[in-house]
Amino acid sequence: MLSHFPTGVVIVAGSTPGGPAGVAVGSFASVSLEPPLVGFFVGHESTSWPPIRSAGRFCVNVLADDQAGLCRRFSQSGADKFAGVTWRPAPSGAPLLDGVVAWIDCRLEREIETGDHSLVLGSVTELEVERGSRPLLFHRGAFPGLELPYPGSC
Ligand SMILES: Cc1cc2nc3c(=O)[nH]c(=O)nc-3n(C[C@H](O)[C@H](O)[C@H](O)COP(=O)(O)O)c2cc1C
Repeated sequence: MLSHFPTGVVIVAGSTPGGPAGVAVGSFASVSLEPPLVGFFVGHESTSWPPIRSAGRFCVNVLADDQAGLCRRFSQSGADKFAGVTWRPAPSGAPLLDGVVAWIDCRLEREIETGDHSLVLGSVTELEVERGSRPLLFHRGAFPGLELPYPGSC
């Protein structure tokens, strides 16, 4: 039933002693404007999150609608997720992926365990829009695309 709720997709990425690490995340949200905080939920079984947590910094990469392949790649545990992926370091040093709509560089503020996930809160240190393109949407296991006029008027 929850797959009927549409989300955007971000890659939460960090620079770790083992190399760059990242996770595809649909639970991302803006949490607070003052102070600027963002958040997402990460599963306890994630193998990429613990080293990112240890780094204490991460970059939230907002995927564009032509980046569904990156979403699939970063949702597969154990894969060499960064093979062939072009990126540069964000100001924090965390990976900033080429072609994203926007990025939000964060310092890990707090992690709150809840059920089989943790709520991760990030303090925003820097952010930028990279491309004026449409965001990637995820709905019922697929990437439906935005068919509304864009940029839309509400
Ligand atoms: C569209 C989409 C959204 C996802 N959202 C989340 C999420 O919000 N939190 C989460 O823990 N996993 C989420 N996942 C699953 C993780 O991406 C996946 O479990 C993780 O990348 C496993 O890799 P790891 O072991 O390297 O961490 C999502 C997957 C997809 C395809």
